[in-house]
Amino acid sequence: MMDLFSQIEEPERDEIRALRKELEEANYKYYVLNMPTLSDRDFDEKMHRLQDLEARYPDMFDPKSPTQHVGSDLGKKGFEQVRHKYPMLSLANSYSREEIEDWVRKLPAGVEIVCELKYDGLSISLWYENGQLVRALTRGDGQQGDDVIDNIKTIPSIPWRIDRNDLPDSFELRGEVLLPWERFEALNKEREEQEEPLFANPRNAASGTLKLQDPKEVARRGLTAYLYYMLGENLPGKTHYERLQTAKEWGFNISDAIKVCHSVDEVMAYIAYWDTERKNLPVATDGIVLKVNNLAQQEELGYTAKTPRWAIAYKFPAEKQLTLLKEITYQVGRTGVVTPVANLKPVQLSGTIVQRATLHNEDFVRSLDIRPGDRVWVEKGGEIIPKITGKENPSPALPTGGECPSHEGRLGGVSSFFPTLCPECGTPLVRIPGEAAWRCPNEAGCPPQIKGKIEHFVSRKAMNIDGLGEETIDLFYQKGLLHNIADIYDLKLEDIAAQERLGEKSAQNILAGIEASKQVPWARVLFALGIRMVGETTAKKIARVYTSIDTLQWATAEQLCAIEDVGPQIAENIVKYFEDIRNLEILERLRQAGLQMALSDEEISNLKSQISNVLQGQSIVISGTFAHHSRDEYKALIEAHGGKNVGSVSKKTSFILAGENMGPEKLKKAEALGIKLMTEDEFLELIS
Ligand code: IVH
Repeated sequence: MMDLFSQIEEPERDEIRALRKELEEANYKYYVLNMPTLSDRDFDEKMHRLQDLEARYPDMFDPKSPTQHVGSDLGKKGFEQVRHKYPMLSLANSYSREEIEDWVRKLPAGVEIVCELKYDGLSISLWYENGQLVRALTRGDGQQGDDVIDNIKTIPSIPWRIDRNDLPDSFELRGEVLLPWERFEALNKEREEQEEPLFANPRNAASGTLKLQDPKEVARRGLTAYLYYMLGENLPGKTHYERLQTAKEWGFNISDAIKVCHSVDEVMAYIAYWDTERKNLPVATDGIVLKVNNLAQQEELGYTAKTPRWAIAYKFPAEKQLTLLKEITYQVGRTGVVTPVANLKPVQLSGTIVQRATLHNEDFVRSLDIRPGDRVWVEKGGEIIPKITGKENPSPALPTGGECPSHEGRLGGVSSFFPTLCPECGTPLVRIPGEAAWRCPNEAGCPPQIKGKIEHFVSRKAMNIDGLGEETIDLFYQKGLLHNIADIYDLKLEDIAAQERLGEKSAQNILAGIEASKQVPWARVLFALGIRMVGETTAKKIARVYTSIDTLQWATAEQLCAIEDVGPQIAENIVKYFEDIRNLEILERLRQAGLQMALSDEEISNLKSQISNVLQGQSIVISGTFAHHSRDEYKALIEAHGGKNVGSVSKKTSFILAGENMGPEKLKKAEALGIKLMTEDEFLELIS
């Protein structure tokens, strides 16, 4: 029987735990993700309640409680490199089902084998101490990895804290971080619109995402994770399968596809089943992993230098299908590039129906020697975007050299293969020397180029005008309301609200978005203009040197080339942009509308105090006395070059700026942690 006190006490103790968890998450969402989930008032109320309760239960004091520290924005720092407790090995693998059968047959009789899906993402090692997630390491070189915990915390299925009393003090869970197909496709679509390079497959996208220094962006992209291996001392369970089921009870995302098999036949049936069924999964898989179930038997089998002997992976071969090439059509992008597109008889490939594939450019089509009516190979090697890799019966037994029907021979000249006129506006196409692409030069009159430029202008990383999506832009273009980016600022409430599908409310939203865009800083305005090859980063670099449109428009190609990342081609594009009178008119209208065509005073003063970013992300300790500058001057120099001056030496210290007579404590600590000492001269050399 519970006594009266514990009847009151236990729920209150539970409340402390729950409040800590809730406030910790709220802090993270507020400070790191900049996506608050609690109102300030709710936050404060909960914090006060927690303070009261903690005062009543001093035995529950915890230095990690949100009452004991301020919310932190750790996510803005670089990653710390941490040694793995157990090296992260890889797996022996084979594409041959016979080899897999052999491997199973060679195991001692009666051994149980766990079959799992081999997830095609990147491996992660999660460390939990006292139920709290304390590290999340990438594989790195297998010996040490990057701690990407702030990014990992954006994955909803990974618990930050587990409140159970049956947990071991510490344990490690390994698994795979993945970007689901749907998210991958949406991300690439967005990147295509922004003219950013596409990710070849979800694995690259997941890995690029996990290395971002901006957890808010990581959260937006929507990573997920499956866990498949638990390690540590004194863990529950005698088999791998039991451990995973325990991890599942603790709240981890463990796949339901795991199966304990007792024979070669069962293993092969599992492989055969998932060979097709995996195509319906939301994430990429590239094989099946077989693991000896019993942990004592695992130990007996042991390890090679690189892989465990108790596991092997069967890898699925790249998927390939033959299908009919019905037609080649031509697509005009926002910069006028004409891309040939293969229109295929629909075919199933790795879980998706493929009916279109890019043919990149004229040279690509020629190298494959394909034409409508051919049966072509479509491939998704390693699950990448479908591509055409060849045709059935390439070069049939026909004489070679001149007599073989080529595109020209069979179709009567280059012109009949690749269009000479823009398929959208009829303007003669030009092929820029040195480039593989044909381009429509009618920038101001070709519909997909006009609409594409407007779409780019309003996109998230440019002017970020909500409510003006692809369809609305198309509608406004059809109705004669939008012909160029400056027209956006002439849109009237009644014009918008008069359109079907758009009421007064959406009209107001659109206008509010347009109004807000007038505060978008100069660097993004420059990016939004859509000057060819001037991407987001290049625009930022240009805007720091040419701090207003007035200075930029008079810059010569030679001057522009002096900017980091700006080569002759980009410089030329910028100069040409400002030579076109139509662009100058548009710019004038944008200026009249009130857009930011120069850096703000605040940006300029930041720029002045920030000389460079050579010390970006570095934590530097100053110790000792110096010959050339005072300690305060060194502190200012560190900050002016993007670094941070910190007081005490820790493993997070990047280096110590060491003068004469450095403090003995600091020296000892630096030596113990292996932190570099930099002399005054070396430091001045570094920042010069
Ligand atoms: S077990 C010591 N199980 O495949 C063995 N790995 O090629 C640890 N992987 O680095 C790995 N799914 O990133 C295991 N169900 C699964 C897996 C899996 C994917 C990855 C993992 C590993 C790589 C080896």
